[in-house]
Amino acid sequence: MSGHGTPIPMTSRKSGPLSGVASVPGDKSISHRALIFGAMAVGETKITGLLEGQDVLDTAKAMQALGADVVDHGAGEWSVHGVGVGGFSEPDNVIDCGNSGTGVRLIMGCVATSPFAVTFTGDASLNKRPMGRVTDPLALFGTTSVGRSGGRLPLTLVGTGDATPVEYTTPMPSAQVKSAVLLAGLNAPGKTVVIEKEATRDHTERMLRGFGAEVVTEKVAEGYKITLTGRPELKPQVVAVPRDPSSAAFPVCAALIVEGSDILVPGVSQNTTRNGLYTTLVEMGADITFENPREEGGEPVADLRVKYSQLKGIEVPPARAASMIDEYPVLSVVASFATGTTVMKGVKELRVKESDRIDAMARGLEKCGVKIEEDQDTLIVHGCGPKGVKGGATCATFIDHRIAMSFLVMGMASNEPVSVDDGSPIATSFPVFETLMAALGASIQRTNR
Ligand code: S3P
Repeated sequence: MSGHGTPIPMTSRKSGPLSGVASVPGDKSISHRALIFGAMAVGETKITGLLEGQDVLDTAKAMQALGADVVDHGAGEWSVHGVGVGGFSEPDNVIDCGNSGTGVRLIMGCVATSPFAVTFTGDASLNKRPMGRVTDPLALFGTTSVGRSGGRLPLTLVGTGDATPVEYTTPMPSAQVKSAVLLAGLNAPGKTVVIEKEATRDHTERMLRGFGAEVVTEKVAEGYKITLTGRPELKPQVVAVPRDPSSAAFPVCAALIVEGSDILVPGVSQNTTRNGLYTTLVEMGADITFENPREEGGEPVADLRVKYSQLKGIEVPPARAASMIDEYPVLSVVASFATGTTVMKGVKELRVKESDRIDAMARGLEKCGVKIEEDQDTLIVHGCGPKGVKGGATCATFIDHRIAMSFLVMGMASNEPVSVDDGSPIATSFPVFETLMAALGASIQRTNR
């Protein structure tokens, strides 16, 4: 199954110690937002360190289709000449967001309060994912939408030029939903309010403040209340995109399980809405030191020195889920090498990611000889401890970059090689994964068929 043309089967094998510096690419969440907010500012926003993964490139194309002038200057440098809040024009064609849930949901938000219709589509994975979580709150502004059954893409959203501001409590912890509502609120008069019970990644709030919008976050009895004042004039910015902590997770986890490893991963976000994995790994006994803490691109970051470690299973608190939601697949790999059981509860959002990630990991881990238990909201991994993980299987990736990278990390430390049926989706978020891991000493190849 592939959404990206020809599948690329890949295999990784037990590797010698990993060493060196793993400089991972720009943050995916911040890259999407830099392009979108730049397109909604008046004048030229300059971006450095943009993640040039397919997801972000699809968002760049969408901003161009809505009337912004987006220019690639090479080597991660981009500029966006924005049209201002309320300045988008009707696109000539369908907006194709490829594999990207973040792309489509944020763009739906930013066109919802414009007086025209936009039709969205994506690849086979994205076209299965629920969009009602975004179109429901956008309807409160006065938009209408029609999609396939279950509110799935392809879907047409009819924006409104006469929006009323909204107060909305998100029913699930989702930065995409929160951000879609806030982006719609930019072109509504008055104050738009989003309440979330648990804090999710806060890049939209931080970056919109940087672009000159009034966004106030308060701790309230129900959780967090975010109030945005509509119709600001967004001022163009210089955005230095920090490295992606979700991509950093792969070399970090590989170093923890490949014997003798010692690597440095510079500039990993310590933003508390993103760093749950690192807290969890330390609790499991990981030898990670957080060196040179500083600020980069408006985010607190540190350089991580990571050494091979004997890990123990733990119970991951459900309250931490939002801050590490994309990292559970690779955590379940690390947990397979630990001694004891790792319990991951409160993770049902994993079922509606690029794939059903609980199912995808459970099936692949079982094939590799790891005992797991699961229910709708839980994944439990029984670590193999000193006898090691068997491996020796081909795992299905379901057009999901993080599933592909997780199983390839697993193969680097398993007793037998681990293959994935399709590594092509890795290009959506971490196009240099293969070369970066190989440069650290990992044995990873495209499989001859
Ligand atoms: C993202 C939010 C998360 C995350 C995704 C990126 C964002 O999704 O899984 O990779 O940039 O806002 P949800 O908001 O659906 O949890």
